[in-house]
Amino acid sequence: MSERLILVEAAGRRILTSAVCPHRQGLLRFAHLDAQRLRLRCPLHNSAFDLADGSRVGGPACAAIRIVAELAEGAPLPSAEELRRLEADFDVRP
Ligand code: FES
Repeated sequence: MSERLILVEAAGRRILTSAVCPHRQGLLRFAHLDAQRLRLRCPLHNSAFDLADGSRVGGPACAAIRIVAELAEGAPLPSAEELRRLEADFDVRP
């Protein structure tokens, strides 16, 4: 999606979340997705995150990943302008 955000599609949901792991910046676009449990596992050191809320559910990361947005079923992908706005929000929010 972008260098900072990825779109994860699983279990009928489309979730926009951070592209890097809070542990040591593993690239989550290479993460293992457990679609049934809605979990993402970082490819570097195996921290796992619950995509329902971004919380860490295992591994060495000491922070959650941020869930930026969930796209409604059938909604189009964010435009470039909308993506820039979401990334700006991503920078501002804790
Ligand atoms: S970089 Fe993701 S668990 Fe270490």
